[in-house]
This record gives sequence, C-alpha cells and structure tokens, in this order.
Amino acid sequence: MTSAALRSRAWKLLELVTTPLLPSDYLDLLSPLRAGADLRGRIEAVHQETDSAATIVIRPGKGWRGHVAGQYIRIGVDVDGVRLWRAYSVTSPTSRADGRITITVKAIPDGKVSHHLVHRVQPGTVVHLDQATGEFVLPAAKPAKVLYLTAGSGITPVMGMLRDGGLSDVVMVHSAPRAEDVIFRKDLHDLVADKALTLVERHTDTDGVLDLAELETLVPDWAERETWACGPTGLLDAAEEHWASRGIADRLHTERFRPSVVVAGDGGEVTFGKTGKTVEADGATPLLDVGEQAGVLMPSGCRMGICFGCVTPLKAGAVRDLRTGEITEAEDGVLVQTCVSAAAGPCELER
Ligand SMILES: Cc1cc2nc3c(=O)[nH]c(=O)nc-3n(C[C@H](O)[C@H](O)[C@H](O)COP(=O)(O)OP(=O)(O)OC[C@H]3O[C@@H](n4cnc5c(N)ncnc54)[C@H](O)[C@@H]3O)c2cc1C
Ligand code: FES
Repeated sequence: MTSAALRSRAWKLLELVTTPLLPSDYLDLLSPLRAGADLRGRIEAVHQETDSAATIVIRPGKGWRGHVAGQYIRIGVDVDGVRLWRAYSVTSPTSRADGRITITVKAIPDGKVSHHLVHRVQPGTVVHLDQATGEFVLPAAKPAKVLYLTAGSGITPVMGMLRDGGLSDVVMVHSAPRAEDVIFRKDLHDLVADKALTLVERHTDTDGVLDLAELETLVPDWAERETWACGPTGLLDAAEEHWASRGIADRLHTERFRPSVVVAGDGGEVTFGKTGKTVEADGATPLLDVGEQAGVLMPSGCRMGICFGCVTPLKAGAVRDLRTGEITEAEDGVLVQTCVSAAAGPCELER
C-alpha cells in the first residue's frame, strides 16, 4: 500500500473515532492558521489611531496569497455569537517583513463590526478571512503624477498604496472634521517631511466641506493627474460629476464603502421561508438588514453589491435593486443580492 493510501485510511479511522466532529475540527481548534484549513487570521495587536479608529494587526494563516496595495479583504468576526462579514482595505505595505497584515477600522455609530473591532476585540482572537481582492489599485506602469482624494476612513486603501511607495509625484487632498480625526496623521506628515508626499489637509469643522472647484487653486494641475478617490458617497458622487464634466472621467478611480442608493419605492411584507419569520419592510432598507434585524441568519460579504456573498433565492413576490430601480420578480431559481435589494411589495426569501 502506498503512503498516500495509508494516510487516507488512517484519516478515515480518525474520522470514525472523532465523530460527530471531524478530525479537521480538532485541528482547527489546535492550529487554526495551518495550511489546508479555511483561511483564518489571528489578531496579534490593536493600535488606536484616533478616538474612533484602530489598526488591527493580523497574522494570516498559511493559505494567505498576499495582496496588491489598495485591495481589501473580507473578514468574518463573531459578534455576540453571530458571525458577521465585512470588507476592510489592507493598510499594510505588500512587503511587510513579518508576514502580518493590517486593516484600519473606523467605528461608525451603531456599527456592529466596526465598533467591535475598534473597541472590544482582544489580541489572540481568531477571525475568518477571504483572499484580498479589488480593482482600486495602481496600474503596473506607474503614472507620472497622482492625486489621492480622500475623506474620513476613505484614507485606508490609499495608505496601503502610499506605504508601498514607488511614485515620484503624489498629492493628497484629505478631509476630516478635525486634526485629531485624521487617521494616520503622523504617518502622512512623516511622508511630507521625507518629500514623498504633498498634503492638503482639510479640517471640515473649521474650513468647511471641500468644494471640488477649489482643486483649481489647491492642486492647479489636478486634471493632469491620475486620481484615486475614496470617501463618503457625497464626495465620490461629486468627484464623478466633476471629472466627467471635464471629459476626463477615465482618469478618476473610485472605491466606495457603501452602495449609492438611488431608488427607493414602496416596501412590503417580507417572509423568510425557512426561518418562518414575516416582517414589514420599507422600500429603502436592504433585505440583508431586514433579515438580520429579524434575527434571520443571512449570508453576507461586502454589503455593497460587489462580492455576491449575499445571494439568496427569491421564492415569491418582487424586489427592487436599490442602485438601479430594476425590479426582479420571483421565478424558478432566481437569485437576488439582498444587500442592494429592497422589498417591492410582499416577497419571500429562502432563508
Ligand atoms: C471595499 C470596501 C472596503 C472597505 N474598507 C474599509 C476600511 O478600510 N475601513 C473602514 O472603517 N471601513 C471600510 N469599509 C466599510 C466596512 O466594510 C463596513 O461597512 C463598516 O465598518 C460598517 O460596518 P458595521 O458592521 O460597523 O456597520 P453595520 O452594523 O453594518 O451598520 C450600522 C449602520 O451604519 C450604516 N453603515 C453601514 N456601513 C457604513 C459605512 N461604511 N459608512 C457609514 N454608514 C454605514 C448602516 O446602514 C447602518 O445604519 C469598506 C467597505 C468596502 C465595501
Ligand atoms: S454582500 Fe457582497 S454583494 Fe451582497
């Protein structure tokens, strides 16, 4: 008998002995980061960045394939006994020598995962991870002149890019309410001191919200620059309009942390068939939120329509895509993205 066949027999025997758990379950308990296990990471440190933001240092398991600066990971965290998945940009450089990665999270009001990660999570916690993904990255042929237009936690993917270096002419226009709210403020000023960055820091509490027309004076050559923008919906919508109005929309790259909801309509009664729950929903709340609020176990990922981690069969009725207004009606096997769909009248989901 070959050694592979022997190993397979030994494993089957182990499965019999360890039933109802599988041997891999025991290995997961003992060595969650081992090769072959579902990808996980161990939180090794939490560094406070501002009152409401923290950098989480994670040692990814053996299956981690690395990232490109600007990409994000999905992280699955158990909060009060429920596994919740969210997306966070990687803020560490790709070349970090110790193999660890960082994400930087801003706690938002009533935010389940962000609040947990910033204020409660302890080093030693094992979290679930997905491989890095995302298109918000620099091209292989580096542009001669770059503008980063960011606000609030939108600085995170850009910090990953800044830390990777490799650019010769970089301007950043960053907004936050006050100096003490600027995430990575010291790192940014270190880069300025090293002449690796020209920084326009905008404190909106005192200076007011940035009007993009001001770019003409703040960054006179802004239109020549390849631009990466990340921040609240208002900033990104305005940037898309501004760049398009100058006929240079192709020079603007944006990353959104939330879907831009353009259409809402009448809601309806939502039934979760498997769980047997029925709740009333308005026409603007994503069915993912409706289900979670009703205590239904809903799969999810990015929560903004990009990862398809939330798709669920629609068994009856109709739902509206909040980004486009498009109505999907139940028919055999139709799947809907619950994070960007709301009830359009009574409907039933297979959950
Ligand atoms: C590609 C991508 C990358 C991201 N990178 C980062 C990052 O690096 N750092 C970071 O802090 N966040 C990042 N996010 C946002 C993050 O995934 C979560 O949406 C955020 O942490 C809120 O989750 P929560 O569980 O705390 O809030 P929830 O409990 O899901 O929501 C609480 C309330 O806040 C609203 N809400 C949800 N998300 C947001 C949001 N982003 N902004 C404002 N209000 C919101 C909800 O509608 C709800 O009313 C990223 C999102 C995407 C899609
Ligand atoms: S959770 Fe990512 S598409 Fe819905």
